[in-house]
Formats: sequence, C-alpha cells, structure tokens
Amino acid sequence: MLTLKQGKRIEMGKKLSALLLICVMLAVFVCGCTPKSEGSKEYTGIISAMDNEIAILLKEAKIDRVDTIAGVEYHVGRLNGQPVIISRAGIGKVRAASGITAMLTRYPISEVIFTGIAGGVGDETQVLDEVIATRLVEHDYGILSNDGFEWRSGDPGNGGEEGIYYECDPELIKFAYDAAVEVVGEDHVFKGTIATGDQFVANSEYVEKLRKDHDAYACEMEGAAVAVVCIEYETPFVVLRALSDKADGKARDSYENLGDIAADNSSHIVIKMLEYLKK
Ligand code: ADE
Repeated sequence: MLTLKQGKRIEMGKKLSALLLICVMLAVFVCGCTPKSEGSKEYTGIISAMDNEIAILLKEAKIDRVDTIAGVEYHVGRLNGQPVIISRAGIGKVRAASGITAMLTRYPISEVIFTGIAGGVGDETQVLDEVIATRLVEHDYGILSNDGFEWRSGDPGNGGEEGIYYECDPELIKFAYDAAVEVVGEDHVFKGTIATGDQFVANSEYVEKLRKDHDAYACEMEGAAVAVVCIEYETPFVVLRALSDKADGKARDSYENLGDIAADNSSHIVIKMLEYLKK
C-alpha cells in the first residue's frame, strides 16, 4: 500500500517528466524550423551564379534536403565527405549579395567558396585556365562625369575608402591553388585580382583598362559582391573561376561553346579542395 508522501512523490515525478517531454518536443520543433540551429555542425558554403556552375557538385553530392529562401534553393548535404550548402544565387552583384546574405544568416557557415566561370583579362592566360582570386574589386563602382569614369568603390559616401580591394582568405587561396594544380596542372592555374561588375565584358579596350587599372586576371559579375558580404559577416571566402572566354570581341561565342566545360573545371577543383577542409 502507498503512503500519502509516496503518492505525492510519484505525482510530482510524473509532472516533471511531462515538463521535460514538452521541453524536448519544443527543442526538436525549433531545431526543425530553423536551419541555423543544426547543432554545432558547420558547413562549407558553395555559391555560384548559374546552374551549370553547380551541376557537377549536385550530381556528386548526397543532398539531404533543399530549402528555398526568397526563391533561391539551398541544397543541404555532404560533398566529398564534407558538410556543404550549395546554392545558385543568380547572375550579377545584387543577386549574389542577396544569396550569400541568406546563406550566412540562415546556416552555420565556416567558409565560403564561390565557383564559376569568368572572362580572361591577363595576357598570359588562356581560355579554360583557372584563376584563383587573391582579391576582388568592383570595377564599375564610381562616378561617371563629363570627364569620364572615376573608380570610387568602398562606399565613400558612408565614410569608406575611395577605392578598395577585398582580400580573400590566405589559407583558402592556398587550398584552392593546390587543388587547382592537382586538377588542371600548374601551367593552367593563376592567382591574382578578379574584377567584378554588372556587365558581361566583350570589349578588348575595356579588358586593357581592367588590366592597367587593377592588374586583373579575370572579370566576372558576382565575386566582389560575395566578398563584401563575407567581410561584413566575418566569414573567410575565396573565388575560383575558370575562363570561358577572353572578354573580347569573340567572348560571346567562346562563352556559349566553352562555358559548361569551364564551369565543370571549377567544380572539380572545389571537390578536390574540400579534402583540405575536412572536418
Ligand atoms: N563570365 C564569363 N565570361 C564573362 C565576361 N566576359 N564578362 C563578365 N562575366 C563573365
């Protein structure tokens, strides 16, 4: 027979168990709804502008689920053994900035790799060579007056410097470079400045300017935007670009014919690079 005290203790125990169960259920619910609360798991964020730039990655990856945020898909899974979030954010600086901001604010990301294609600017580079960015620049940010264009990137109206370059993470540069050498061979890998602007460049004179003004090796449309956001969110980043064209009068044809091959080259380098980042 139970005494009154024992009965009360059992009653209290039941209440505590119920409370504990509610807490556990609440925690599970919150974790399920908010990607950011995925334990201490950290992902490598991989972002591109176009579908062909992540096609191989999605084929090789084991994707657990796809989240859609503001119309952009974020593929959550593992690639070459590494936890990854893979996303195609769209073409141009605005879409790139929006996509990377969503990624960095919704998921625990330890580093960001931008993968894709570019127009070659350096004299020494050939189509299908790989360029690893050491720094990025917004080549189209500035003042257009009657005297011409004056480069003034760096948000000067808000106290920023007048013309700045965004530096990639030195360790990620090294990993990307070593991986690229393994995949395409040393003669086809270059490190240097990548120039970003909201236009497809197909103009030899402008190529000359990008080389002269910024010592650029390649031009594309997203890298510096991703760089700005990664710097704001204190997340290390690097940009990898295979050259689909030489940004000259023949650029559009070359881009059409070689874009997919170039995109795959960068993707294979990303897969190799993940081996250096194994968690
Ligand atoms: N992406 C690939 N080729 C390009 C070019 N010529 N200009 C800008 N972005 C590019």
